[in-house]
Amino acid sequence: MTVHFIGAGPGAPDLLTLRGRDLIAASPVCLYAGSLIPPAILAYCPPGVRMIDSAPLSLDEIVAVLAEAHRDNLDVSRLHSGDLSIWSALGEQTRRLDALGIPWTVTPGVPSFSAAAAALGAELTLPGLAQSVVLTRTSGRASAMPPSESLAAFAATGAVLAIHLSIHVLARVVADILPHYGEDCPAAVVWRASWPDERIVRSPLGALVAAVGDVPERTALILVGRTLGATDFAESRLYARDYDRRFRPTGPAPRFPEAP
Ligand SMILES: C[S@@+](CC[C@H](N)C(=O)[O-])C[C@H]1O[C@@H](n2cnc3c(N)ncnc32)[C@H](O)[C@@H]1O
Repeated sequence: MTVHFIGAGPGAPDLLTLRGRDLIAASPVCLYAGSLIPPAILAYCPPGVRMIDSAPLSLDEIVAVLAEAHRDNLDVSRLHSGDLSIWSALGEQTRRLDALGIPWTVTPGVPSFSAAAAALGAELTLPGLAQSVVLTRTSGRASAMPPSESLAAFAATGAVLAIHLSIHVLARVVADILPHYGEDCPAAVVWRASWPDERIVRSPLGALVAAVGDVPERTALILVGRTLGATDFAESRLYARDYDRRFRPTGPAPRFPEAP
């Protein structure tokens, strides 16, 4: 018996990995994270599946479900939105499972920041403009931010910011980072990236709060950075005609003369 933690992706059912789909189909118990997992993904569960929504459960109750499946020798697909490496509560669950001697695996998923960047048609890193992306959030009732990880500290680097779990405090987010990026820095909010009701607002940072207005939907990512919508940037050297590299040796003395 194994608990399979599966990143279910940002929403679109066809952004689930094939491995995730096959594990769901092979597991007689499915524990899934509420409204962020679309019905079309739950439809991969086998007939007669024991299906439990974890949204109203405490960690103790979730572990009790997993321990019961272990006693019954039934594999579990444990579904979380996006990828499990960020804000998934994976760590607290696997720690409990280790203490109980229950085996588990992790299958990655498409994270929401990737789906939001795809919705914007954006490469977040562009030569000369930004070469780092910070996946971050603001303090919430459930999790406080470590003091050294303030938005202002990340903004001071000029990296692209992908700010999760924070659309409800958008005005404060903008106030914190505006001194570093400036009024004209490109920004965007993407709600429910990859879902049928996906929505995008693009705006210079200084006008973002007004452009967004009062939207109750909280499943949204705030993206800020000079690369968003940029057209004035250098091409990378990788594909330059005169760039000597292993798979395309060039020049009088290539570094990799034996390359194919
Ligand atoms: C608890 S975190 C889960 C993050 C997830 N593990 C991931 O890989 O993206 C939930 C937050 O992720 C963001 N999010 C998740 N799915 C999203 C989507 N489809 N579109 C936009 N933002 C999304 C929102 O900021 C939301 O408040």
